[in-house]
Amino acid sequence: MRITIFGSGYVGLVTGACLADVGHDVICVDVDSDKIARLKNGQVPIHEPGLETLIQHNLAEGRLRFTTDAAAAVDFGLLQFIAVGTPPDEDGSADLQYVLNVARTIGMNMKDYKIVINKSTVPVGTADKVQAAIAETLAGRGAELAFDVCSNPEFLKEGAAIEDFSKGSRVVVGTDSERVKRAMRECYAPYSRLQDKLIFMDVRSAELTKYAANAMLATKISFINEIAHLAERMGADIEQVRHGIGSDPRIGYHFIYPGCGYGGSCFPKDVQALSRTARSLGHESALLEAVETVNHRQKGQLFNKVSNAFDHDLKGKTIAIWGLAFKPNTDDMREAPSRTLMEALWEAGAKVQAYDPEASDECHRIYGQRDDLRLCQHRNEALEGADALVICTEWKAFRAMDFEALRETLASPVLVDGRNLFDPDIVKAAGLRYYAVGRGDSVHLSVMA
Ligand code: UDX
Repeated sequence: MRITIFGSGYVGLVTGACLADVGHDVICVDVDSDKIARLKNGQVPIHEPGLETLIQHNLAEGRLRFTTDAAAAVDFGLLQFIAVGTPPDEDGSADLQYVLNVARTIGMNMKDYKIVINKSTVPVGTADKVQAAIAETLAGRGAELAFDVCSNPEFLKEGAAIEDFSKGSRVVVGTDSERVKRAMRECYAPYSRLQDKLIFMDVRSAELTKYAANAMLATKISFINEIAHLAERMGADIEQVRHGIGSDPRIGYHFIYPGCGYGGSCFPKDVQALSRTARSLGHESALLEAVETVNHRQKGQLFNKVSNAFDHDLKGKTIAIWGLAFKPNTDDMREAPSRTLMEALWEAGAKVQAYDPEASDECHRIYGQRDDLRLCQHRNEALEGADALVICTEWKAFRAMDFEALRETLASPVLVDGRNLFDPDIVKAAGLRYYAVGRGDSVHLSVMA
C-alpha cells in the first residue's frame, strides 16, 4: 500500500519505519527542512532502540522516503496518517492547530479518494473537526472528492516502540466505513500477531479509548504512590504491600510500582487534557484531578526527602543525581521528576552533579551552562565531593551498588532512592541513611513525626 505520514516526530517515525519494514511504500513529510535533510541521510533525531537501523535499512531499500513537499506527499498515499504534535495550550487542553493545518493541506492537494487517519492523541470530536476542515478546503477550491476520516490511536511506549507497534496488545480503529475497515485490515495484515487484535469501533469511542488507557495507567501509579505515602506514616513497607495486592489477578502486578511520579510526553499531558475536556463539558472529574495532584506532590517528594535529611539547609551542599530521563532507555526528560528535583535544589542553594547514560545532552539543551549544574560522564564522577546521592531513574546499571564504597565517598551518608531499587536492611547495614518511597528511613521519620 502507498502510505503518507504527516509529522516526523516520535509517533510518525516509528509508524513510518515499521510500515515500510513490512513492505508498504511510505513517505514521511514534515515542515522542518533540517530534520528531513538529516533523515534522508539516515540520521534520526530521537533516541529509540532499533529505530535508526530500521530507518536506514528501509531508506536503502527505497520503501521509505522523506520530504517537505506536502502536495506530492498528499498525492502519494491512499492512507494519510496524521502524526503531528498536539502540545498542551495554556489551560492544558490539546492544541489542534497542527492537526488541522495538515487536514487543510490534504484538502488543498488531494486529487482522488483518501483515507485520513488520526494517529496523534487528539480530544474526542477531533475527527469531526478534521472532516470539516478538509470539506471546507475542498469546497473552497470547488472540488467534489470523497474521503473518510478515522481514528487509529497509538499505544507505543518509549524505549519499546518498535516492539509495541508489531506485537502490541491491540490496534484500535474508529470508523463506521466498510471501505476504511478493509483498508486498515490490509495495512496491518503483514503483522500476523496483530490480526486478531484489530478492534473496530465508532470514531469517538476510539478517540476516548486512548485517553482512557493512559488515564487508567496514570491512576494506578498515583494510587500506589498515595498508598506509599500512607505506608510512610503508618510504619509499613510499600514493596511488601505491592506484592500483597498485586497477587490478586484483578489488581495485577503491572503499573503499581511506587516511584517519584510519572513523567514523559503522554501521561501528564493526556490526564490534564481529559480533565480539561471533562470540565469544558460541565463535569469536574474529581478522580482525574486527584491523579494529577497526587503526581505533582509525588514529584516534590524527592526534594522533601533530601531537605529533611539535611535539616532543611541545603545551601552550599552538592547533591549527586543518577538518572535524568523520565524512565530508563530513553533520553526524554519531558515532565521528568529529575527536573522538579533539580529546580528545587537550585532554589534552595544546592549544586547538582548529575549522571544519566543517555540524557546528558538533553539536560544541557534544557538548562544550558550553569555554575550549579555539572553533567558527568560517569556515575562515579557525579559522586565526587557530593553530600548525598539521589536516584531518579531506574537504569539497569544502577541496580548493583557497592554501598560501603558509596558511604565512604559521600560527605553525609544519605541515599535517596526514588525507585525503591534496594533492600533497606542491606543499605542501612552499610551505614547509610536510606530514604526510599514508602519504605526505608522515610517510614521511621514519618512515624516519629
Ligand atoms: C505511556 C504508555 O505506557 C503508552 O501506552 C502510551 O502510548 C504513551 O504513554 P511512556 O510515556 O513511554 O508510555 O512511558 P511508560 O513506560 O508507560 O511510563 C510512564 C511513566 O510512569 C514513567 O515516568 C514511569 O517511571 C512511571 N511509572 C510506570 C511508574 O512510576 N510506576 C509504574 O508502575 C509504571
